Amino acid sequence: MKKILQQKDRDFIWHPYTQMKDFEQRDLLLVDRAEGIFLYDHEGRRYYDTISSWWCVMHGHNHPVIKEAVKKQLDRLEQVHFAATTHEGAIRLGEYLVSITPPVLSKVFFSDNGSTANEVALKMSFQYRIIKGDEQRSRFVSLERGYHGDTIGTISLGGVPAFEGPFKPLTFDSYRIPAPYCYRCPMGCEAPSKSTWDDVSQGPFSTLNCSLECLNPFRKLLAEKGGSITALILEPLLMGAGGIIVYPAEYLREIAAMCRQHDIHLIFDEVATGFGRTGTMFALEQAGIVPDFLCLSKGLTGGYLPLAATITTDEIYNAYYADYAEGRTFFHGHTFTANPLGCAAALGSAKVFAEEEVLNKLPYKITALQKGKERMTELPHVGDVRGTGMAAAFELVRDRKTKAPFESDLRVGWQVYLQGLENGLILRPLGDVTYLFPPLCTEPDAIEDILQKTEKTLRQVFERL
Ligand SMILES: Cc1ncc(COP(=O)(O)O)c(C=O)c1O
Repeated sequence: MKKILQQKDRDFIWHPYTQMKDFEQRDLLLVDRAEGIFLYDHEGRRYYDTISSWWCVMHGHNHPVIKEAVKKQLDRLEQVHFAATTHEGAIRLGEYLVSITPPVLSKVFFSDNGSTANEVALKMSFQYRIIKGDEQRSRFVSLERGYHGDTIGTISLGGVPAFEGPFKPLTFDSYRIPAPYCYRCPMGCEAPSKSTWDDVSQGPFSTLNCSLECLNPFRKLLAEKGGSITALILEPLLMGAGGIIVYPAEYLREIAAMCRQHDIHLIFDEVATGFGRTGTMFALEQAGIVPDFLCLSKGLTGGYLPLAATITTDEIYNAYYADYAEGRTFFHGHTFTANPLGCAAALGSAKVFAEEEVLNKLPYKITALQKGKERMTELPHVGDVRGTGMAAAFELVRDRKTKAPFESDLRVGWQVYLQGLENGLILRPLGDVTYLFPPLCTEPDAIEDILQKTEKTLRQVFERL
């Protein structure tokens, strides 16, 4: 049966982010079921879901509370169009999201994935300027190594060349500024010492021993073209797909202040960081910054169903609020906008956050991961070890001294992935960055086991190089 399914997969399916020829001789991992922090294959072999099934399964698989919420909803209402109808789940979820985000974020626009959550924010900001008679503000700013999705709009603001690939001619012009990538500082500076980064527990303050020169290009851009910019989009504190790049809250505070000064909207893409990943419900809390748009997806439903939200301010919303004839309607929507099953899953996840005190129980797990990850600094080809909250990453390099990367045809990250499977881990790489993004429910003993198996995997791969 297993072999038949795997062959039918080859016959009928085209997988995302996958060169299918890699599976000409090799089988894809056929997942049969999942429980807690484990995936199981058809032979009952288990694998730690160390990437939370693409960063979204926050409370583990098969959680009874979320399952029950979805089952109940299934008996009541599974789908309804959301243009001029509404339903209880969406209303309750909207109220919940407004209650857990900063007070000025007051209006929730639903969609169904992270790319659309961001796309909505871009379009809202753009149309807002037209409504306000400020059409010259039509350009966006984003960060190199930033990632905001795979639609043409979001790749226009992406900073990962591999994802933009052949599609560049289809994208619209925007401004790109350097990423606060401390390991490979774009300004050639030393990485600031971690001890000077903000301590979340003490609230926002600044002791950073870095002058954030990487913001100078943005300063220059503002001086020359500030009046043409409508919004800046970024992933706060943790840039995910660009290589799990972690940066200090101080950077966020500075860039936010610069945007405010120049009347530029701030779009926080918390698709990956939202719902506890960085240790607080949202990363923005650690910098004390309130954006004009907050984009959420992935962990919103605890990873059980596709759903997304773009949350914005009364100021933006009110600009659109007018008699129909004035032409200010926001013409954007998706078939499954605010899907009732998705909303039920999200409310189920909210219940888990509250009942299981998920955020209060995070610090000891975070300590286990962040302290435990440091052992990798001893390994020969680990150039950088970084992390925040429940995320840790190991950048693998040919030469630690020069930081020279491996030759791309070696596909070291891919080798780590394949070896990880042998050791019961899903270590899906980002190029040559191996990372851990475990569910928030992962306890310290499991974290320790994952780290030991990761170390073993890396050593095995390095021995073969
Ligand atoms: C920060 C960020 N934004 C947007 C997206 C796109 O989300 P989706 O894959 O649901 O379209 C991702 C996905 O990894 C992400 O990490």
